[in-house]
Amino acid sequence: MLKLRVAPSVANHRTVPHGGIYSAGLGFDPKIMDFSSNVNPLGFPSSVRDTLKETSALFSVYPDSDSTQLREGLAKYLKVTKDQIIVGNGATEIIYNFSKAFLGKKRVLIPIPTFGEYEAAARLEGSKVSYFETMNLNQDIDEFVKSIPKNHCIFICNPNNPTGVLTSQKNMLKILEASQKNSVFAFVDECFIEMSSPKESVVSKLHKFDNLFILRSMTKSFGLAGLRVGYGLGSRNMIGILNRIKIPWNVSGISQNIAMKALSGKSHLEKTRKLVVRERKFLKDSISKTKFQCHDSQANFILIKSKIGAKYMQKKLIKKNILVRDCSSFKGLDDKFIRVAVRTHSENQKLVRELNKL
Ligand SMILES: Cc1ncc(COP(=O)(O)O)c(C=O)c1O
Repeated sequence: MLKLRVAPSVANHRTVPHGGIYSAGLGFDPKIMDFSSNVNPLGFPSSVRDTLKETSALFSVYPDSDSTQLREGLAKYLKVTKDQIIVGNGATEIIYNFSKAFLGKKRVLIPIPTFGEYEAAARLEGSKVSYFETMNLNQDIDEFVKSIPKNHCIFICNPNNPTGVLTSQKNMLKILEASQKNSVFAFVDECFIEMSSPKESVVSKLHKFDNLFILRSMTKSFGLAGLRVGYGLGSRNMIGILNRIKIPWNVSGISQNIAMKALSGKSHLEKTRKLVVRERKFLKDSISKTKFQCHDSQANFILIKSKIGAKYMQKKLIKKNILVRDCSSFKGLDDKFIRVAVRTHSENQKLVRELNKL
């Protein structure tokens, strides 16, 4: 029998638990209200509705490996140039390619609790990961900035999954300045910022920081989770390297085409933000204060602390066709936390009713 010899980082690699119907062991069922994935509550923009016939012509064609048109569209949307953009099979592919290209066995700092793939990708490259525990980076900003120089790369999720906390652009600039001064990579994940407060984004600061890499995803903000389209922004040098090491044809032609169409749905994002603000308040105000504490969120999801165990809650709620994210797998949280996405009013009403019955 062939003896498989793998590097220790590969042998020790653990997949990261996520939300979503399939992770919960469920099949696709339109009855299930999925509060466990933080996808746009309005779904995708109407601009992509009629694309199926058109995209079927692409089924037998190899896609453009460089996602040229989509990168041009994104460049216009973000007011950068196309050579500052890489497109990935979801944002997750880009986290792994970034880590492969730039991390190696160096030191990486991650504020926790946060999205688990940064750590998994960094460890796969043999990086030494340290944590900075915080439930609100704005409050702990000076302390965090002090710890930057000892590292080769920092990962910041903004707004942060799962807390929903948005670090202000002012505080992000403190982080970027300290990291640039110390030649530290700053990886800033803005996958949720379009559904929160885009004016706090650091995309407009990209030209000032050659150590800055920004991650975005169309899977969430444009409701295209099934198509897997993410992108990253960085210096031409960084993007050149990432474009060289990615697998060819990493994003299907159908996904590229539909993502292009989605970009014209800017008013969809404005509508989404209004709904998120209104419904997030509704959820916060309606969820019983005695049993549950809602963490202050500026994002399209809310972290809820409860006296009841997360697994028990998830099990009870799924019987009512409601799927919530059990957050016990997030480093820095325990088994008393769940996360719920902000969805439409009637869905949120059902969630509140069932939560308050627990
Ligand atoms: C903060 C954050 N970044 C990136 C991703 C990955 O996004 P994608 O679906 O585009 O791979 C997720 C998915 O949950 C996420 O929560």
